[in-house]
Amino acid sequence: MNITVTLKIAKRLLESNGEAVSGQQLADEFGISRTAIWKHIKELEEKGYDIESVKRKGYRIVTTPDTLEPLGIQTGLKTKRIGQKIEYVESCASTQIIAHQLAQEGAPDGTVVLTETQTAGRGRMARKWDSAAKKGVWMSIILRPNVAPQKAPQFTLVTAVAIVRAIEEVTKLQPKIKWPNDILLNGKKCTGILTELQSDADGIQALIIGIGLNVNQEKEDFDPEVQEIATSLKMASGETVNRQKLVQSVLFYMELYTQMYIDEGFGMLKILWESYSTTIGHPVRARMANHTLEGIAEGITDEGVLQLRTPDGKLHGIYSADIEMANSTS
Ligand code: BTN
Repeated sequence: MNITVTLKIAKRLLESNGEAVSGQQLADEFGISRTAIWKHIKELEEKGYDIESVKRKGYRIVTTPDTLEPLGIQTGLKTKRIGQKIEYVESCASTQIIAHQLAQEGAPDGTVVLTETQTAGRGRMARKWDSAAKKGVWMSIILRPNVAPQKAPQFTLVTAVAIVRAIEEVTKLQPKIKWPNDILLNGKKCTGILTELQSDADGIQALIIGIGLNVNQEKEDFDPEVQEIATSLKMASGETVNRQKLVQSVLFYMELYTQMYIDEGFGMLKILWESYSTTIGHPVRARMANHTLEGIAEGITDEGVLQLRTPDGKLHGIYSADIEMANSTS
């Protein structure tokens, strides 16, 4: 059985907008017999596709399997660059590792790495990232923007805006961003972003943007140590979320907003980011490597640096920290 033909048949059926396509038409288009078409349809059913066989009309895909395989993601994907090349593996240590490797080997701008489960998912500050099987979206996007290395950190903020817009589009939820890159629902984390850089004397060679999105987990799917601070879109909305649609939407907004940042700068995106932020205007505690500051988060600079005003009136630029909401600044 030629799996490429099987997947092409699935793509053809998915692109018929719910209309049945006859076995004879498929046979003619693919230059194979109707019996061969039937065998490919059976193969798709085994892969989890629900296919209706309509008498005298042909085949129609009712539902696709809940996987992140390229076929399902790329059918209906509204981007020109991001996601045109997808590297999918059912399981891996970390999509960041694969993406770094692909970037070294010259993978094009917009290449996406997707997996169902990670055995060594990594978060910021060398933390572990809990990556439950088939319930989240674990993905790394390779970008090759022609910008100066000091413009790299804002890509994390731009990514956060893109993810919030995608969650708003696919669900009825209204997520918030906690500086710099946590996306929260009801005060609990549903998404983390890890931006890594490959650069040399000529500048940025590649940005590897890792996105961990908790989608359909239940509380007990999380490791006990994060159960009280993590949440998923399903836990917050009460509804199972289609991961394919969510990935398509994230990739769409990633392309839109990263291009906007490259072409027009951070101005408009900064306004969007601040409008989604839980941090700005609130008393917060910033825990850094060797000290902690409390104050009011007044905003971010054009470089994405958090501006924290302490009770003595001083304004501090925070480049990297863990942020907590503080009830009082005294
Ligand atoms: C954070 O600490 O908040 C960032 C978490 C980033 C997790 C994602 S999951 C996909 C990609 N692969 C990884 O190993 N990490 C990132």
